[in-house]
Amino acid sequence: MNSYDQFLSPLGRNLHESVLRKMGQVIASRRGDLISFAAGYPDPTGFPWDEFREIANELLSGKDGSVLQYGPTRGYRPLLESILGVLEGRGIRADLPQVMTTSGSQQGLDLVARVLIAPGDAVLVEVPTYTGAIAAFRNAQCQLVGVRQDHDGINLEALDETLMRERAAGKRVNLLYLVPNFQNPAGIMLSLQKRARLLEWAERRNVLIVEDDPYGDLFFDDVARVSDTRPLKADDRDGRVIYLSTFSKTLAPGFRVAWVAGPAPIVERFDTAKQSMDLMCGILDQRVVHQSIVRGVLARQADPLRKLYRMRRDVMEQALRAQFGDRLTWNPPRGGFFLWAKLPDGFDCEALLAKAMEHGVIFVIGSAFCVDGSGHDRIRLSFSWPTPERIRDGVQRLASAMQPELAR
Ligand SMILES: Cc1ncc(COP(=O)(O)O)c(C=O)c1O
Repeated sequence: MNSYDQFLSPLGRNLHESVLRKMGQVIASRRGDLISFAAGYPDPTGFPWDEFREIANELLSGKDGSVLQYGPTRGYRPLLESILGVLEGRGIRADLPQVMTTSGSQQGLDLVARVLIAPGDAVLVEVPTYTGAIAAFRNAQCQLVGVRQDHDGINLEALDETLMRERAAGKRVNLLYLVPNFQNPAGIMLSLQKRARLLEWAERRNVLIVEDDPYGDLFFDDVARVSDTRPLKADDRDGRVIYLSTFSKTLAPGFRVAWVAGPAPIVERFDTAKQSMDLMCGILDQRVVHQSIVRGVLARQADPLRKLYRMRRDVMEQALRAQFGDRLTWNPPRGGFFLWAKLPDGFDCEALLAKAMEHGVIFVIGSAFCVDGSGHDRIRLSFSWPTPERIRDGVQRLASAMQPELAR
């Protein structure tokens, strides 16, 4: 048979592939030495290997058969209970019916799409915004409508204008998606004042906010404090916020353990939707994560990780300044994994990526994060994974890829 297209459903035909997965294929297909500033992977040297080994050995001793049994769709109950403690540490009070584990926050985004987005809806997102959310929401056949950012997060006047315009055009607009802490890709933080105003706005305009918070624990203490990262969910008196977070960046992404905290009736719907994906879910990963919380491993991770990534940010910023002077500009990252850079006039991110690959370095093109067709003059550089030497080398390769135009 030469084509299976006739068998595909309209949704199957139009599924959106994650940009980062595509980049993964590029990396895999390229031979030779390639420095990647593309994927937002944590540094594996930051994983607590010894503690994980000890926990896994105990769990796999064979004494407790339930370790390898089917696990409840909602999540391993002791883990859910310890997640309530993690949430409390972030100022969020929740009960068991309001939380559920997911296979990475990516599954949380997919559940949001399945349960809350109808074909033809308008969904509000920042410009730029996270590509994984773009892919998940687009698969629900909605229209993503971009709202511009200021240096302290989404522009609230533009947000309200956009909402009213879309509603006046007859669109159903129920959702705003945000990454308030160390946004992927822009690296910025939503100010506390804007967080309070957004909650008031969501209630007044009858909108739900999807708050995606993978990086809140990873602030850099020269430029941010823990109080700056207080989630919107912590002050959500009206049940407007669906909060997603993950252990991917603080423990390890390979566990695929994340969670959602939201109004109980919505979490109940997520649970039902998830049953058709996995019916019961893997419990071993969840039990390793649970033990990591109970034994204090998670709590001990935060400080060294903040130092590690802050140091990587410093190395990347220094290298960029040394190579580019003021010809490349960016928002100084206050936490997280990413630096969002503006290219000098005349450069296009896609053409530059092709050249950069020839020079052995890759990044993610800015346009991948922008639902309004902008971003061609931006690139996202991730500093979390490469060593300091590789960061310096990669920045040097990037500068070579930009010659001779850069020298003009
Ligand atoms: C903003 C944002 N949301 C969600 C995720 C997905 O995280 P997880 O590994 O839990 O699926 C990421 C990962 O890079 C992210 O940056």
